[in-house]
Amino acid sequence: MRKMKPLVIAVAIHALAGCSDQGGPVDPGNMNGDGNPGPAVSYRDDVQPIWNANCAGCHGAEGGLTLAGGNSRAALVGVVSVGYAPEVRVVAGDPERSVLYQKLLGNPDFDQRMPAGGALGDGDLETIRAWIAEGAAEN
Ligand code: HEC
Repeated sequence: MRKMKPLVIAVAIHALAGCSDQGGPVDPGNMNGDGNPGPAVSYRDDVQPIWNANCAGCHGAEGGLTLAGGNSRAALVGVVSVGYAPEVRVVAGDPERSVLYQKLLGNPDFDQRMPAGGALGDGDLETIRAWIAEGAAEN
């Protein structure tokens, strides 16, 4: 079984190097200034369910903005808005400059409030604001 060792080490190194560009665990020493030790909001567990319940019916698998599960974060973070270019859908770390958040608030500079025909509750709005403020991680 000695032959296994290099493989085990290689796998361990791969796992250590596996953190993605902006997602993944946050270094507690390199925070966003709110004093929290890491992102409190999970994109997968907290934000995506809001899209599933309120948005995916219109922003489905086809069209400009896909909020259905799978690759929704990639359609948001750092992506220039179709309707409000050159503004960006989600500016990581900056909810105020994010088209998505402004449309959820109903800022009249950004046309219709989302979800079209309704509005999210304060709890959902705060979840999304916090996710963006914490760096819009894929977590
Ligand atoms: C009833 C259909 C409908 C629902 C539900 C809906 N949207 Fe929209 N959304 C639209 C339409 C139509 C547009 C294009 C017109 C506009 O920008 O207002 C749009 C545009 C957007 C844009 C701008 C995209 C761009 O690139 O300019 C964002 C961001 C957005 N929606 C997010 C959401 C979110 C988040 C939800 C759920 C909380 C949601 N929408 C729910 C119909 C909908």
